[in-house]
Amino acid sequence: MKKVWIDTDPGIDDTYAIAMLLADPQIEITGVSTVFGNVTVEKTTRNAKLLMEAAGKEHLPLARGAAIPLYVPLDTSPFVHGANGLGDMLLPEAHMQESALRAPQAIIDAILNNPHEVTLLPIGPLTNIAMAVILEPRIIDLVKEVVIMGGAVHCPGNITPAAEANFFHDPHAAQIVLSAGWKVVLAGLDVCSQGLIPQQLLEKIGNGKSPLAPYMKGSLPFFQNFLKLFEMGNTVTLPDTLASAYLLNPDMFTIEKAYLFVETEGNCMGQSLAVPRGKWYEDPNSKRRYTADDHIGSVDVLLDVDQDEFQKLIENYLV
Ligand code: BDR
Ligand code: CA
Repeated sequence: MKKVWIDTDPGIDDTYAIAMLLADPQIEITGVSTVFGNVTVEKTTRNAKLLMEAAGKEHLPLARGAAIPLYVPLDTSPFVHGANGLGDMLLPEAHMQESALRAPQAIIDAILNNPHEVTLLPIGPLTNIAMAVILEPRIIDLVKEVVIMGGAVHCPGNITPAAEANFFHDPHAAQIVLSAGWKVVLAGLDVCSQGLIPQQLLEKIGNGKSPLAPYMKGSLPFFQNFLKLFEMGNTVTLPDTLASAYLLNPDMFTIEKAYLFVETEGNCMGQSLAVPRGKWYEDPNSKRRYTADDHIGSVDVLLDVDQDEFQKLIENYLV
């Protein structure tokens, strides 16, 4: 069994990513936490509750997390995910009780209670994860790994030319999490843009066996309409599904080791930049020279995915 803690901002693609994990009997979801991102944390928490209820997982801990980023102003993406975060589909009321703990403490407890066993799967802005590290640095050595959907290493961003949305929405948190010194696997836009799901398969998923099928079917049209602005829409990529796919079958990915630094200011805010170790740089203010080593983290960047295998996996788990 693989113990996974999901930190999420559902979110249309988050819903697909969670549905994939629910479908694997080898995955034990130990808990779910929510964060602002695609919409406010109020809405992502309501949506996460609805997804857990649909899956019959009301017994799992569901911990509400950050309402705002560590430093930059709050920004959300309702134009991508709908004002309610699930493509503006009609939503029932959520009833599930949320955990008394807030997300960072719930994450800390899950890791301390299961040393070296819990994989963290953050598929939203990294605010909760950064706060957990700040509050309890012991989790750095006690987590199994941190598999993140975020960043864009060798390709342009999706929210600005330089930045991917999850890193853009809290660049300081992303920088803290990447440089913490734990094992990080990054499903960034490099690989997420390869996770194509054709229309026919999307339709099968919408009518498929997943308990989340109604939410996938109901929320997708909004996202496809958004993509039509860019003359896309029939074949979609759902970024968060690549992070789940890595947990389900890491062998279908090629990986590059890189040292990454996240830009926290200016036009390139949220950019994930590969930096060579040991190189000297100059501080723009003090003019003192320094090495970037204290600020960069070693990351396994998912570079390529076997697209046939990815589609087969999606079909196996969701149809
Ligand atoms: C990421 O940002 C959000 O819009 C998605 O849910 C995904 O986690 C993609 O850049
Ligand atoms: Ca997400």
